[in-house]
Amino acid sequence: MRGLKGTRSAPSSSDLPLPMALTQLLLFAFATVVAAAPRSVPAGWSLHRRADPEALIPLKFSLAQSNVDKLEAFLLDIADPQSPKYGQHWSPVRVKETFRPSSETVNTVHAWLTHEGVQADKIQLSPNGDILHLDVTIADAERLLQADYYEYSDEDGSMHVGCHDGYTLPEHVSMHVDFVWPTVHFDAPRSLSRRSASTSPPLWGRDGAGKTPIDNLAAIAAADCDTSVTLDCLRALYNFDFTPVSGDVNTVGVVEFGKNIYRAEELDLFFGTYRPDQVGNIPTLISVEGGDPDAGGSEDEASLDIELMMGLLGPKQNLSLYQVAQQNSSMDPTDRLLAALDGSYCSIAPATDEGITDCGNKPRTNVISISYHLNPDLNDPAISPVVQRQCTEFGKQSLTGITFVASSGDGGVAYGASQACLVNGTLTFGGAKGTFVGQLPASCPFVTAVGATSVPPGGTTDQVEESTTDFPSGGGFSNNFPRPSWQDSAVQNYLDNFAPDYNATIFNRTGRAYPDVATNGYPIVVAEKGRFLHTSGTSASAPIFAVLIAAVNDARIAAGKSPVGFINPALYSDAFAHTFNDVIVGSNPACQTDGFPAAPGWDPVSGMGTPNFEKLRDAFLALPGMLSTSLHALSGQAAKRFAAAAG
Ligand SMILES: *[C@@H]1O[C@H](CO)[C@@H](O)[C@H](O)[C@H]1NC(C)=O
Ligand SMILES: *[C@@H]1O[C@H](CO)[C@@H](O)[C@H](O)[C@H]1NC(C)=O
Ligand SMILES: *[C@@H]1O[C@H](CO)[C@@H](O)[C@H](O)[C@H]1NC(C)=O
Ligand SMILES: *[C@@H]1O[C@H](CO)[C@@H](O)[C@H](O)[C@H]1NC(C)=O
Ligand SMILES: *[C@@H]1O[C@H](CO)[C@@H](O)[C@H](O)[C@H]1NC(C)=O
Repeated sequence: MRGLKGTRSAPSSSDLPLPMALTQLLLFAFATVVAAAPRSVPAGWSLHRRADPEALIPLKFSLAQSNVDKLEAFLLDIADPQSPKYGQHWSPVRVKETFRPSSETVNTVHAWLTHEGVQADKIQLSPNGDILHLDVTIADAERLLQADYYEYSDEDGSMHVGCHDGYTLPEHVSMHVDFVWPTVHFDAPRSLSRRSASTSPPLWGRDGAGKTPIDNLAAIAAADCDTSVTLDCLRALYNFDFTPVSGDVNTVGVVEFGKNIYRAEELDLFFGTYRPDQVGNIPTLISVEGGDPDAGGSEDEASLDIELMMGLLGPKQNLSLYQVAQQNSSMDPTDRLLAALDGSYCSIAPATDEGITDCGNKPRTNVISISYHLNPDLNDPAISPVVQRQCTEFGKQSLTGITFVASSGDGGVAYGASQACLVNGTLTFGGAKGTFVGQLPASCPFVTAVGATSVPPGGTTDQVEESTTDFPSGGGFSNNFPRPSWQDSAVQNYLDNFAPDYNATIFNRTGRAYPDVATNGYPIVVAEKGRFLHTSGTSASAPIFAVLIAAVNDARIAAGKSPVGFINPALYSDAFAHTFNDVIVGSNPACQTDGFPAAPGWDPVSGMGTPNFEKLRDAFLALPGMLSTSLHALSGQAAKRFAAAAG
């Protein structure tokens, strides 16, 4: 991640006369560099000009948090089905206090800044105590960080200020800093609409494969689940016969980023045919950074997610919609979502911070479904510190009892539907031969990643599905997150017995492996732009699985138990093995390889397999966890009622 500071075009030290090599060794003792130099400008961006030295930028030092090394153990304590503390979620305050950077961390960075001439009253500590913020001129930022700042522009005309060649911190400071923003990471503000036709697709997007219009909806028979997946097909496939009983208490949410919006008319068109009791209903809007479905945009992802979720949930369980705005900001949309939920990433008082104004002020739901690929899972100095921090934040919020469910991607072992693989160290689009690249948030171990399956041609819902062939379902091994203990034996079994004999550099055998589970992703019947379509993608799989977990929570709440929160350790445990239909047919080719084959047990195409809802619900119902420990996740009214009931 961090390497040796050298001149920007230094030859390797072995080529140097001895005194120069010694100088480098000495520098190593007190200077740490983030990103090796010189680097190429990230794909999709072009260098506009040197940044104006007089211009002010907000500089944010993301401080190293306390106890991050214990996060997995903390989670296991409440999420391992064997643990007596199962389901005893933490309060947000306990999470904040446990991970708050130490005063040594804050003081070290603060002291260095003032030593470098920054006035103490210009340095602000964020409300969560995890960011030091200062507004500085570009000239001062360049001096502090020994960096060259530039302005960059992208195809959409968005501007970004950063220093792609890297920056330097003194060694004693860098150990207390996860990363400095803005510097080497390009959190593309580019529109999150569908796959663009541009030569370098954005590093963001919805997970969705192709779609085709349906000419004659009436001709679709109930049994045609191999060619047209309706809500009834999903109910049959997953043994999902659900009427909510805890709808006034339980919560479930879906995230839509940027210009991905739904229209009420489309929902009604869909509900009119498939869920008449939902006609006229819309999701409950939780607007993040002013996100507004009425502002217009592209409706494919949101329509798909919301039709499936509201269709399967029915009117007795509301769906919350986190509409996260993205325009005119270089902030990563992931950060904006996480900030709205718990105040992380909020560097200074709300309303004055250009990047984020919604800071821990939005309600949390027990389950949150995300059908997007965000950062690529690259082991890269410009990306790793940022995605590692994001994953830690997902883990911290999971401690409070939230289940994050994400699509595993539609590019097989490549990143995103635009099929990016790593070629000669460069993320290269279009399915080039190269190293496999995973995607966030699916590859984060604290997120439940869902792959896509389909009913084989001519097959029925009584058969076990196969991994999709219309598009390769995303899956593989992280380059940033080590394999967590709970999936150790399942993944080792695959590696020992079924993994292809790829060159060791093609994928990272020690990384977090995903997806965790799979559900149908092809060909789903949706309504969009005034007509019915077949659509496809793990985009559909994540919201379907999220609904099943919401329904598990409904049953647990009715039994006086807490929502399940972080579910991965349970999903891989022996007690849950029988709750999945093992998918053993299919593969996820990409990067000019055959990808990985599905296999008995866990595999990196379909995870543990597709769920049997009744078995899954009963297995979770058998686990402990008092509802009173999770009241923060409930609506105010219901929380009071339950607090009263719990005495
Ligand atoms: C769903 O939301 C609506 C509007 O806020 C509310 O009137 C209704 O009671 C909610 N339904 C349930 C089951 O909580
Ligand atoms: C975003 O930027 C564009 C172009 O600079 C501007 O026209 C628009 O008003 C801005 N939108 C918001 C919400 O600030
Ligand atoms: C990768 O690098 C090697 C050696 O520098 C070069 O021969 C090859 O053409 C490069 N491949 C691509 C796809 O750029
Ligand atoms: C493999 O993943 C681990 C984290 O599990 C990481 O430390 C290592 O650098 C990765 N290797 C490569 C080649 O990316
Ligand atoms: C494995 O990959 C490395 C690096 O790309 C390459 O040098 C080596 O020749 C490859 N080995 C095989 C057997 O393909």
